[in-house]
Amino acid sequence: MRVVLIGYGKMGRMIESLAPEAGIEIVAAIDDPTSALPDEFDVAIEFTEPSAVLGNVRRVAQVGADLVIGTTGWASELDQVKQIAEETGIGIVYAANFSVGVNLFERIVREASRQFADHAEYEAWAYEMHHSAKKDAPSGTLLHLVDVMRDAGYGASVDVASNRAGRVPGTHIIGFDSAADTITLTHTARNREGFARGALLAAKRVHGKPGLHKFSDLL
Ligand SMILES: NC(=O)c1ccc[n+]([C@@H]2O[C@H](COP(=O)([O-])OP(=O)(O)OC[C@H]3O[C@@H](n4cnc5c(N)ncnc54)[C@H](OP(=O)(O)O)[C@@H]3O)[C@@H](O)[C@H]2O)c1
Repeated sequence: MRVVLIGYGKMGRMIESLAPEAGIEIVAAIDDPTSALPDEFDVAIEFTEPSAVLGNVRRVAQVGADLVIGTTGWASELDQVKQIAEETGIGIVYAANFSVGVNLFERIVREASRQFADHAEYEAWAYEMHHSAKKDAPSGTLLHLVDVMRDAGYGASVDVASNRAGRVPGTHIIGFDSAADTITLTHTARNREGFARGALLAAKRVHGKPGLHKFSDLL
């Protein structure tokens, strides 16, 4: 599979280093909105900044390649991106978190929340900790997990909290507590590799699948 990287920062470089073991050839890495894309490639993987996403979607759609959007913070443009995918027939996959482990953790949280929904004596908490350079708090991933809990029918209180310190790559914990016991579900990231490996898997999964997809639906 021939892949173009759009955005050659921390994520772009990590994806490049892990691509060979995923059987993916990186044919170009573009770090500038004015650079032309190659004429022929299969999938673009986009890790840039929110204001660049829509322009990059249009550029990739013009070439007719499929697209992985790793950049976060562009939710207000989701409808336009969907329309472009539907009109041009390209496949686009997006996720706020491309870690396969986090996406499977989400399924575990959904099922646990469904189970606890019928037992009002259990209250819940949602907690995350990240390195001190992370700007947003709580993380988008934690807020999404709380949405998943609500969506699964869990109606009791969910207390949300965050810490920022040192170099912690990222920990998310969902807990349920009653007078009798405590149940905790924990995801601990070891580094950023999980995002890059997930984005490479997403490139393989979205190739030849027209329309807009969430990564969790392609797993
Ligand atoms: N979904 C996930 O799993 C996941 C995981 C990690 C990070 N992210 C997100 O991915 C994004 C990038 O993260 P990062 O850590 O790689 O950031 P980064 O190190 O700042 O890299 C972003 C790169 O994109 C380039 N860029 C900006 N606008 C561009 C455009 N229009 N066309 C081409 N390249 C452009 C930047 O170039 P200049 O420096 O020259 O501006 C920079 O090299 C962020 O939104 C972050 O939140 C998502």
